[in-house]
Amino acid sequence: MSSVLRPSAAGSKAALYEQICEQLGNLLGDETNFVANAANTTALLFQSLPDINWVGFYLVEGEELVLGPFQGKPACARIAFGKGVCGTAAAEATTIVVSDVERFPGHIACDASSQSEIVVPLLNWGNLMGVLDVDSASLNRFDEDDREGLESIVSVFLASQAGGDLPDLSEAAHSA
Ligand code: SME
Repeated sequence: MSSVLRPSAAGSKAALYEQICEQLGNLLGDETNFVANAANTTALLFQSLPDINWVGFYLVEGEELVLGPFQGKPACARIAFGKGVCGTAAAEATTIVVSDVERFPGHIACDASSQSEIVVPLLNWGNLMGVLDVDSASLNRFDEDDREGLESIVSVFLASQAGGDLPDLSEAAHSA
């Protein structure tokens, strides 16, 4: 795998995400194991995206989200639906971009240095499996390019699960 990608090398943020998507597809290859692919997805993002301090999955379990594979400091294990940025993105099944976490009512501070955040839902044919959460220690780190880019990353990750070993969400899945 090539080394860390920088926006300057990639030309633009959109181009950077395009490169990361391609790298992720190659990295996941024919592997379908959920944990292995989720872990590698967070590792690639943590190495490739500048100015982030945490990236990880929270996965649906009943009426809450449970911490999955991640990179960064230890984080809270469970988040109820509708709570924090992650729980809100899950409940609304939509991407949420927070430019200043201090201004998001109910934000859950796992790492005190986080100042901005983006949370993308994992929607598998309409079923919510969880969310991908990315944090930064800088204000205003994430914008529309990040939303589009990370939604594409999530699509590549979910495609690796097509016909593969999705976790059994028969009781936990929430229809979006
Ligand atoms: N800030 C998140 C909690 C998860 S941590 O950032 C890793 C939230 O408000 O949902």
